[in-house]
Formats: sequence, C-alpha cells, structure tokens
Amino acid sequence: MLLVRGDDGAARAFVNQCRHRGAPVVKGCGRASGFSCPYHAWRYDRQGDLIVIPDERSFPGIERASHGLVPLPLVERDGMLWVLPDPDGKLDAAVLDAHLSGMEHDLASYRLAGYCHFESRVLERPANWKMPIDTFLEAYHFAPLHRDTVAPIFFANLCLFDAFGLNHREAVIRKSIQTLREQPESDWDFVKHTAISYQLFPNTVFVMQADHVETWRLFPSQDRPDHCLVYFDCYVPEVPTTDKARKYWEANVDLAIRTVDLEDIAMQVDMERGYQAGVMKEVLIGRNEPSLAHFQRAIHRAVTGTSV
Ligand code: FES
Ligand SMILES: [Fe+2]
Repeated sequence: MLLVRGDDGAARAFVNQCRHRGAPVVKGCGRASGFSCPYHAWRYDRQGDLIVIPDERSFPGIERASHGLVPLPLVERDGMLWVLPDPDGKLDAAVLDAHLSGMEHDLASYRLAGYCHFESRVLERPANWKMPIDTFLEAYHFAPLHRDTVAPIFFANLCLFDAFGLNHREAVIRKSIQTLREQPESDWDFVKHTAISYQLFPNTVFVMQADHVETWRLFPSQDRPDHCLVYFDCYVPEVPTTDKARKYWEANVDLAIRTVDLEDIAMQVDMERGYQAGVMKEVLIGRNEPSLAHFQRAIHRAVTGTSV
C-alpha cells in the first residue's frame, strides 16, 4: 500500500504496484514530489496519475490517463487514516461509523492529528495472530506475569469493559488514580490514570497510554495458523526535541516491548505449542475477562454470521 498526501492536502492510498508489470513503486517512507518505478522508470505524480512512460511508442493504445496507480478507499478523520485494502470495496464516513459503532467519539477526543510517529518494530512470532491480541484483553495476569514490569504500576485483576459492536474498549487502572482522592472531582482526569485499549476488530489494538499512543497490529504469516507478524507503533504528542524527551519515550517503548513481547507474547508462544498438540479440548474464560469473551464472540459472529 502506498499512502501519500497530495499537493491539495488530501491523503490518498494506492496499491503499491506499477501499472506496467507490477513492481513495487516505493519502499520505505519520506518526502517525494512523485514516484518513479525502480524497474523501468514509469513515473507517477502524488495524485497517482501516470505522467511518464519511457519509450511510449512501445505501448500503442495504452492511455496514461487510465493507467494511474490503483486507488484504495480511504477516510481521513481525527488524525487517523482508515484504508480499505480492496480497490472495489466501499469505505466512507457512514461505513466507518457503522464499523466503529460509537467508538469514534473516544478516538476523536484524543486529538491525534497533533501526534507524531516515534518508533516502530516488526516482530515475527510462532503463535496464532489472535493470541497476542488476547494478552491485551484482561488484567487478571498482571500480578503473576508482569511482576517485574507493569505490575507495580497497575491494579491487577481490575478493568472497565464496554462493547462497541465487534470492537471493544477496556481500561486498566493505574495505582496513581488513588491520588485523585485529595483532588476536587472537577480536576479528575481519567485518561492520565489508566491505559485504555481499543480493540479495532479484527486485528488492531490501539492503546491510549495516558500520555502517548501505541498500536499493535497482528497479521497471520507464512500462510500458517501458528505464525504471526506483530507491527508495533508508538506515537507521541509532539516531536521530541531534547535528549531528555527522547530518553523518556525510548523508556516507554522499552517497557512496552519488555512487557508485551518478552512476557505476554512469550507466554502465548508457549501456549500455542500446547494448543498445537491438540490434547486439551477446551479452555475457560472467567467473568473477570470480559474483553476476552467479547473478542471470541466477535470472531464467532464474523466467521459464522451468528451470535453465541
Ligand atoms: S514494472 Fe514499473 S516500470 Fe516496469
Ligand atoms: Fe500483559
């Protein structure tokens, strides 16, 4: 996928394949006045229009006007770009609202348009793509599994859950919330004293971490049910301009990776091996794990079209 902001200020998404023979037109990210395919140098502008075909005489009857990059449906809203990776699909504000089912109000409230990207990581792990998502869906495991990382920061086994269609929101509570007792209720700021995870069905977890945002996106990999790719991205409210600010956000990224990859996902990888053995026929979800139950029901509904 190729994402670009045009001269008119509009964000656009395209299939990242050249209309000549399908080579990727760009790799990585940055600034460019247009895109030149590295294979035979067909050139496109930032609106996706094809502007140069070298040796054009060899392509009689091929009109440049109808051979621009293939556009993908995109909605830009509240600092986020929502793209449907299907050129024939339909995505507009109404379709997006229907999918978010009310969650859009929370996302708008965070004023993400002012945020900037800080760091990304891509991990490949031997677990089903849904299992790393499970790790965000309950606080029951905080005390035993995260004893040396986030357990001192959060109340264990406590969460606030709300469903939004197939998506859901789960807030886990920082112990710092206790300081609010001494403050007038009009000064209370819930976001500051929580980590609020939004599961954007099916494969994205968006976490408002009080003062920054993490997203975790999961994809099956190697065409195997027991392997996945984990895309971690960290966004911060302003470009860090001092060493102190950079170190602060680096420490946050380090804590996220130590907690989620080295503790949560490591546990899921061990569990995947057990699941693959196929000996145990069922597992249990407690009433203290409502997000987990909602995710399982949402998957069932999406796959079968029926509720459980
Ligand atoms: S594949 Fe892009 S110019 Fe040939
Ligand atoms: Fe965890």
